[in-house]
Amino acid sequence: MEKILDIISAKVSQAFAQAGYDAAYGRVTVSNRPDLCEFQCNGALAAAKAFHCAPMQIAQAVAEKLSPEDFELAEAVKPGFLNLRLCGSFLQHYLQAMATTPDYGVEKLGQGKTVVVDYGGPNVAKPLHIGHLRSAIIGESMKRIYRFFGYHAIGDIHLGDWGLQMGLIVAGLREQQPELCYFDHDYVGPYPEEAPFTLAELEQIYPAASARKNVDPAFAEAAHQATYELQNGRPGYRAIWRHIMRVSLADIRKIYDNLDVHFESWLGESDADPFIPDMIARLKAQGSAVESEGALVFPVAQEGDKKEMPPCILIKSDGAVLYDTTELATMVQRMQDFSPDKILYLADKRQSLHFEQVFRAARKSGIVPETVDMEFLGFGTMNGADGKPFKTRDGGVMRLEQLIADIMDFVRKKVVENQIVPPEQVEQTAKQIAMAALKYGDLSNQPTKDYIFDLDRFAAFEGNTGPYILYTVVRIKSILAKYGAWQNLSIQAPESQSEKELMLAITKLAGNLETALRTSSPNVICSYIYELAGCVNKFYHETRILGEENKDRQAGYIALIALAKDILETCISLLGFSAPERM
Ligand code: ARG
Repeated sequence: MEKILDIISAKVSQAFAQAGYDAAYGRVTVSNRPDLCEFQCNGALAAAKAFHCAPMQIAQAVAEKLSPEDFELAEAVKPGFLNLRLCGSFLQHYLQAMATTPDYGVEKLGQGKTVVVDYGGPNVAKPLHIGHLRSAIIGESMKRIYRFFGYHAIGDIHLGDWGLQMGLIVAGLREQQPELCYFDHDYVGPYPEEAPFTLAELEQIYPAASARKNVDPAFAEAAHQATYELQNGRPGYRAIWRHIMRVSLADIRKIYDNLDVHFESWLGESDADPFIPDMIARLKAQGSAVESEGALVFPVAQEGDKKEMPPCILIKSDGAVLYDTTELATMVQRMQDFSPDKILYLADKRQSLHFEQVFRAARKSGIVPETVDMEFLGFGTMNGADGKPFKTRDGGVMRLEQLIADIMDFVRKKVVENQIVPPEQVEQTAKQIAMAALKYGDLSNQPTKDYIFDLDRFAAFEGNTGPYILYTVVRIKSILAKYGAWQNLSIQAPESQSEKELMLAITKLAGNLETALRTSSPNVICSYIYELAGCVNKFYHETRILGEENKDRQAGYIALIALAKDILETCISLLGFSAPERM
């Protein structure tokens, strides 16, 4: 379906042409004076310059050409604006078409296209912390938005599983238990099925080893050596690596499942490893990879650079590969496996230099051709009340698991105190509200901005919050349940201002979803549903819906709020949460 602004613009453009002016001046926007009109066109002001006549004269001539069947108001106002209000019947037909067309008639802009969304990005063997939360929440939402538009969207978790942290664990374990067969050069296998550590032990080995490398150069050297040997296939180290992966991944999966965040591809940096030798050979042959101080680098600086642009480092002087290397090799792999039209990367915005470097390298080397779009969506930090990165009460890094548990406790208490649902539904309802609080709290901010995590505010049932949206959906659901069979009723023309405002808000769905898609901004969907929910609640307060005696009129009300509910539920599913039946 055409977007409402496009339809209205076409009508106004035609009127410009009929009045003898260029149709290009007919672009209509949503009014910035909703007290005066719903839409406006400022084209007469520009046309006046080109046609050397008074803008008012043009605006008046155009207004006269507009049909009263479309516009209840088409008025020229000084100095030459065109103020517009739509007829109720126009809205009625537009909404009826939305209600009866799949996905509300939103155009499938991604049909036949594939996008890889690289998000999550946890580092194996390190506990997930809140830094990974935004990646998971925003990435999942972007993936769902792509899917809604018809893209084949592949969520790829891109595990951090090949770097120094793996070598640190090997070196740490070796010190604790040097007698293990993994460290014995003469041992020819098979290696034990059982890991030599539990998850809890693993989570101690890593931070201890990581702290130690900063103060103990010999240990740091051993960890680098272990990383190199692991990457080069030492069997005992690969066996330890597999243990680490299995133990850690089980936990990682659990946490993402709990967040309702799901990946189609569970590949990691290590999976790019087999692609590295060929890639390096190609880059050397091209002349794009060169030796520099014992390392192999890919210079990416170019003329006109305003800041320093260091080269990508492909192979360090000690032989190990780095983040840049696995990043580029992963591109090789993705081009081969998915031939995507686009790759969207999510990571902390402090990684923007890394992505600028590898994007340049990918283009220069032809690893990713110009026809494939690459975008880095760098997100800001989630801060505590003090404006600094969110910490635990004792100042430590907040583990994601802990954060989710804290939010659940907070919401569960509220659900129990307010006696919202029977005891057996408490857990499920609390979960839905908690997810709405957490995800909406995050997504309602522009991804690139930092924000302050404020559970009291995020979990409130009033204000610009996820639970408020859920509350609105639940309110409509309860009216629909009392009404009875509410499907397939017809939308009617509005009779009151609040009804018309609700209808106008509904028409803006497609435009807002497209903006969210094009600008990678789920926050646009949040603002949209906040406005829509506000219109629903205003309409509800000003209208006797269940008490309405005229049955036809009542059916129209029901059709309208049912459409609003469906749209709200569709939008929250794009944000990654869902509404309970009762609240
Ligand atoms: N593992 C990385 C981190 O914890 C994020 C990975 C982002 N994705 C990528 N392709 N580099 O910061």
